[in-house]
This record gives sequence, C-alpha cells and structure tokens, in this order.
Amino acid sequence: MLSEYHIGLGRKKNCMRELAAFAGARKAQIGADKVFDFSLGNPSIPAPPCVNDAIRELLELDSIEVHGYTTAAGLPSLRKAIADDFNARYGGDIRPERMYVICGAAAGLAICAKALVQPGEEAIAFAPFFTEYRVFVEGAGGVLVSVPPTAELQPDLEAFERALSEKTQMVIINTPNNPSGVVLTAETLTRLSDLLRAAEARYGHPIYLVSDEPYRELVYDGKPIPHPVNFYDDTIIDYSYSKSLSLPGERIGYLAVSSRMANGDEVYAAIAGAARTCGYVNAPSLMQRVVEKCVGQTSDIAEYKINRDLLFNGLTELGFDCVFPDGAFYIFMKTPEPDAVAFSERAKKYELILVPSNDFGVEGYVRLAYCVSADTIRRSMPAFAQLAAEYGLQKK
Ligand SMILES: Cc1ncc(COP(=O)(O)O)c(C=O)c1O
Repeated sequence: MLSEYHIGLGRKKNCMRELAAFAGARKAQIGADKVFDFSLGNPSIPAPPCVNDAIRELLELDSIEVHGYTTAAGLPSLRKAIADDFNARYGGDIRPERMYVICGAAAGLAICAKALVQPGEEAIAFAPFFTEYRVFVEGAGGVLVSVPPTAELQPDLEAFERALSEKTQMVIINTPNNPSGVVLTAETLTRLSDLLRAAEARYGHPIYLVSDEPYRELVYDGKPIPHPVNFYDDTIIDYSYSKSLSLPGERIGYLAVSSRMANGDEVYAAIAGAARTCGYVNAPSLMQRVVEKCVGQTSDIAEYKINRDLLFNGLTELGFDCVFPDGAFYIFMKTPEPDAVAFSERAKKYELILVPSNDFGVEGYVRLAYCVSADTIRRSMPAFAQLAAEYGLQKK
C-alpha cells in the first residue's frame, strides 16, 4: 500500500522551488536582467581553485580506486584530516572514529532524526528554521515542536524550557541561521546547554543537540562563532561543504558525535545503522578525496559580505525593517503588512522574488538569499524603492 504521508509530501508544493521556477519563466519572458531573484540559497561564488585542481589530479589516478566504494563511514584519512582541522580551529575534540561522512547536511539531519527519534517522540527546533527539519522529523515518525524566537531572532529560552518534555529526544540548532543569518551568542548557548542538562537530569535520559552548521564559515566582520560542541557534551555536529566550498550539487558533509558524549559509541552505531536503512552506502568517493585535499579552505566569502552590506543598507535606508545578519547569505526582512504571502505576491509586481516566512515557522517576514551578483542587488534597488513607496515607508 502506498504511504499517504509520502504521497502528500511528494505532491506538496515547495514554495522556494515554485518561486525559483516562476523567476525562471519570467526571465525567459522579459529578460534575465529584469528579474531580481532572491529565492534560492544556491552559492553564487565559485568553489576555490583547490577543488578543480584536486579533481584534475584525482582523475589521473587509478579510476577503480577513485570511483570505488569507500568504507561506509568515509575514508579514514579524510575523517582524520577534518577532525585535525576542526579541533585546531574550534578548540574541540572530535575524533575520526566518531565521524560519519554523509551526502550533505540534509542527509545528516534525516539520519539523526531516524537514529534519535522514535515514533511519537519529539524534536525541538527554533523558529525560524530550515523547512526540511519538519520533513525529517515527521519522516522518522516524530513530532516537531517549534519554539518561537525573541525580537532579535535568538531562541526564546523561556519558551524552550516550557517546550522540553520527557518526550524530547533531539534539539536542532542552526548557527549561522537559514533564513535569518543570525549567529547564536555564547550566552544563548550557555543558557540553552544549562536547560538541556537540567532536562536530562529531570527526565533521566539524554537529549541530543544536533548542531546543523552548513554556514559555519560564512561569518563576517571577524565575528567569533562560539561552537556548540564546546558547550554541551551530548552534541552531534551536522556539517556540509555545500556552502563553504560552493559544492551543493556534489552532496558531501559529515556527522561528528562529540567525543565527550557518554553513550557516544551507541549513538554512533545508531547513526551508522540509520544511514544503512536509508541506503547511504557511502558519500561520493571522488568528493571525499577532493574535500580531503581542500580541508580548511573556503570559497571567497568576501563577496557575500559585500552583498550583505549592499542589501542590508539599501533596504534599511528605504525604511524596511531587517534583522542584521552576521552570517550565512540570507536577510530576513519584516513585511510591512502581516501577511507575508500577500507581500511576496505584491513584490512580484516589481519583479522581486522574495520567499514568505510561513514555511520557516514564523509569520510576517520574507527571506532574501543574497547569493546573487552585487550588480543584481544594485539594480534591484529601484524596484525595492517602488515597493517601499507602495507601503508608504519613510526613507531613513
Ligand atoms: C540550515 C540548512 N541545513 C541543511 C541544509 C542542507 O544542506 P545540504 O546541501 O548540505 O544538504 C541547508 C541547505 O540549504 C540549510 O540551509
């Protein structure tokens, strides 16, 4: 029998993809330069040169080895290189034997949900959150509990305390955040960890913190990014090279179970088992080798900072209210009318493609992905000015 859940999910329209398709059709109609598409988080900066250099080098080697199956957890030499680099940069203590190389952060989240959440149990996410969290948790039979944000879009920790229950097995954080660009402060991580430890003691079982961090290196102005693994022992890192190396189509990242997690060996086994039930035989072999040669490198993120500043300053000068994003490549903008979907529709009149916030678990915002050219941002400003004028916003 077909699963009603999966049929529903397969038929459900993905708002972002729909908007991107709309933008594509509009570009074909009126010209690509006349449409300002801020819908998708597809990196606009090329991968660093080490990526293509590594691919060329690898293609000269024995193709049976380069393209063959690897161990399920990923090449030991790759895991060691990643762990050494991570520990040097973030002062952590992650170990190759507790790392599992995966097909991107999405796969890592789906694996964690399957490994950690049983049917009827709960996972908590902090709104606004990446839309797929709900899919992965519900796909595992769990219930996603959404915690609202503060005005600064940090997690509301009082609401978090109330949301914790004996059913809570997993808590997902995402710093820097998609869709807001907000970075969790050390203070937030300290308080959040204290609440988690208290809940573990109260309910008598571990509560796992999954730190979803594909934007970890995309932080601007030298802002320090405190790493969750240094705050809470029951942490699992979910990392991806989709954004830092601009390789979203290549599907490569890793999970790392904290070396300080008391039952870490068991959790690691559950992760390996969940990956197996999903049919993840191993992450792409060529890409594992490429990443090993590029560990510690990133695309030239300076371009994203230029875009962030252009767009943030431009929008706020026009009177729009945006939350200042320290990282990632998104701006979350308050909509001047409460209905974000209606606002997004109205923006289309000026060929502005903006994603309404409802699917991210909050209302009254739109997300702008500024992984576009700086020229697109500059040319979009007259359109934003018209939109602002329509709402009677006052220039600052
Ligand atoms: C917050 C967040 N988590 C996970 C993912 C999935 O990334 P990946 O391409 O590594 O699967 C994304 C992708 O945009 C994301 O924004």
